[in-house]
Amino acid sequence: MSNLNNVHFKFLPLSMRVLFSMALLVFGLGYNMAMIQVWENHAGKDGDPMLSGKDLMIAYGGNPEGTKLETSLRGSMADMLPAEKRQVIFDWLHNGANPEEIETKINPILQEHCVACHNPEANPHLPNYAKADGLKSVIAKDEGMTIPTLVRVSHIHLFSITFIFFIVGFIYTHAYVRPTWLKCVVIAMPFLTLITDVASWYLTKVWSGFAWVVIGSGALMGTAFTIMWFTSMYQMWLGKVPAEVGEDGKIPCIR
Ligand code: HEC
Repeated sequence: MSNLNNVHFKFLPLSMRVLFSMALLVFGLGYNMAMIQVWENHAGKDGDPMLSGKDLMIAYGGNPEGTKLETSLRGSMADMLPAEKRQVIFDWLHNGANPEEIETKINPILQEHCVACHNPEANPHLPNYAKADGLKSVIAKDEGMTIPTLVRVSHIHLFSITFIFFIVGFIYTHAYVRPTWLKCVVIAMPFLTLITDVASWYLTKVWSGFAWVVIGSGALMGTAFTIMWFTSMYQMWLGKVPAEVGEDGKIPCIR
C-alpha cells in the first residue's frame, strides 16, 4: 500500500493508528487544559463567578465603570484578602478614590495582603504596592487588554492552533463521513473560527457585542474538535469498515 491518501483508518498500519491515537489523546488533554485556563483567566471579572459574555467584554474591551484594581479584585486577586476589606477598597473606588484616604484606609490593607507579591524584588513586572503611588496605574479606567498584548497573544494563537487543527484534521481525513461536504465543513470550521475569534478580540474594543462572536467561535471550534476526535477514535478502533469503502481501503471519491 504505497499511497495512504484517502485510505480508511482500518486499512492503515497499526503503527500509524497508534501514532494518530496518541496525538489525539494529548491534544484532547491539551484542549481541556486550555478551557480551564480560559475559565481561570476570565470568569468572575463582572462579579458573577460564572464565565459570561460580560467577562470577555471586560477582558478585551475594558470596563468603563471599573478600574483594573476592581476587576482584579473581582477576578484573579479575589482570594488574596477577606471580603470586608475588599469592600473597603470598592467603596473607596466608587466614592472617587480620594487620594487623601490612601494612607489611612487603603495602604494598611495593601501592606498586609498584597505587598508580599507586589513589590519590585518579588515580581518586578507587577504594580508595586510597597509605595503608595504604585496604585496609580491600576486605579485608572480599565481599558482591557492592550493592543501589544493582543498582538502577542494572537500571533501565538494563530500559529499554534493552526498546527493542532492541521494534524487533527489530517487524521480525520481518513474517516468515512457522508455527506462529503459535511466532512469538509468540519475540517474547515476551526480555521475559519480561529480567524473570527482573534479578530473579535480587537473588535470587542470597538463594540462590546463582539464578545459573543468570541464565545460563538470558541463553541464552534470546540464542536469541530470534538466531532473529529470522537469520529477518528471510533472508526480507528471500534467501528466496522463501512460497506462503501473498497477492497483496497480507499474511501470512494465524490466527483
Ligand atoms: C500571591 C501573590 C500575590 C498577592 C498576595 C497579590 N497579588 Fe495581585 N497579582 C499577582 C500576580 C502573579 C499577578 C499577575 C497575574 C494575574 O493578573 O493574575 C497579579 C496581578 C494583579 C493586578 C493586575 C495588574 C495589571 O497591571 O494587570 C492587580 C490590580 C492586583 N494584582 C492587585 C492585587 C491586590 C490589591 C492584592 C492584595 C489584596 C494582590 N494583588 C495580592 C500576585 C499576587
